[in-house]
Amino acid sequence: MWRGLIDKYLKYLPVKNINNIVSLYEGNTPLIKANWLSKRYNIELYLKFEGANPTGSFKDRGMTYAVTKAVENKSKAIICASTGNTSASAAAFGARAGLKTIVILPEAKIAKGKLSQAMIYGAEIIPIKDNFDRALEIVRKLTEKYSLTLVNSLNPFRIEGQKTAAFEVADQLGKKKLDILALPVGNAGNITAYWKGFKEYNETEMIDYLPKMYGFQADGSAAMVQNKVIKKPETIATAIRIGKPVNRDKAKIAVNESKGLFHSISDQKIKEMHKILASKEGVFVEPASTTPIAGIINLIENGYNLKHKKIVAVLTGNGLKDQEFVLNNYDLPVGVKGNLKHIENLINLMD
Ligand code: F0G
Repeated sequence: MWRGLIDKYLKYLPVKNINNIVSLYEGNTPLIKANWLSKRYNIELYLKFEGANPTGSFKDRGMTYAVTKAVENKSKAIICASTGNTSASAAAFGARAGLKTIVILPEAKIAKGKLSQAMIYGAEIIPIKDNFDRALEIVRKLTEKYSLTLVNSLNPFRIEGQKTAAFEVADQLGKKKLDILALPVGNAGNITAYWKGFKEYNETEMIDYLPKMYGFQADGSAAMVQNKVIKKPETIATAIRIGKPVNRDKAKIAVNESKGLFHSISDQKIKEMHKILASKEGVFVEPASTTPIAGIINLIENGYNLKHKKIVAVLTGNGLKDQEFVLNNYDLPVGVKGNLKHIENLINLMD
């Protein structure tokens, strides 16, 4: 029976007492072959669907370990800044552990699904009239002053938990050797975690290869690509609307050591890929999660030879978190009378 990541990968995630693990049985997410995209672009593309985690994003991997450690260390409260997903995950695991959870968010730049999660799990929510980078600065100051456990990816246990995604990808691919791991980059914790995971799996001889790490950002918040702080980050992909990634140094190392790259794409391309993924592959993700695929395709269109490469794109968050994005961008179907003849005339039944 699956009992979550710490139970599965205990060797890599030591705990003091297994009875005190705080888990929602996260992890074990599907790796889905992207048939349509693979054929069209002559690559072997797989989708690591992290939206299948209990709160709908990859954050649960880091949160199970960070909150387990907070409980081990007798912490009474956890706190984070967030573009949405971290706050939803912290609130859920905080609730499960019986810890007070405080979240500081950029007001009106959080997908409503994520905000409603933090609300219903019972977090104390403080929206600020500023961006994520400022929220994180405030959280860091508060944790210096008060006895609160910070659960952003500055917390090393978050990275430790998240590295298990690399183990799963390797296990799911079996004998296949992964060439490229592609993922969205915001605060740059996840790319750091995957690289750590692949290296540990390689060192413990679970795999005999290391993939290249490809990190993708939106043009308007491409701090890693441009190698500078973006003062006013902007993108429709609110999850990665970050101008000053706290893990930038570690992320640079991951990309350099693995001979990978950072690349950015436009909001328009993010929007197009959002639709393609759902309508051609049947996989619905939030906008930020489309960046690795939109980015890979953009590289191919710019002359990169990725022919036959085995690529895993990490789809970090579930599409249901940001339904507004769909409802605001596409026409709502209009209601009609419940009349058989009328409906027969409306539907194209011959095709
Ligand atoms: N994709 C999604 C859906 C995210 O929510 C995030 C980060 C990322 C990608 C980027 O990951 O920060 O490790 O590089 N979301 C954080 C949050 C910032 O507060 O939920 P990263």
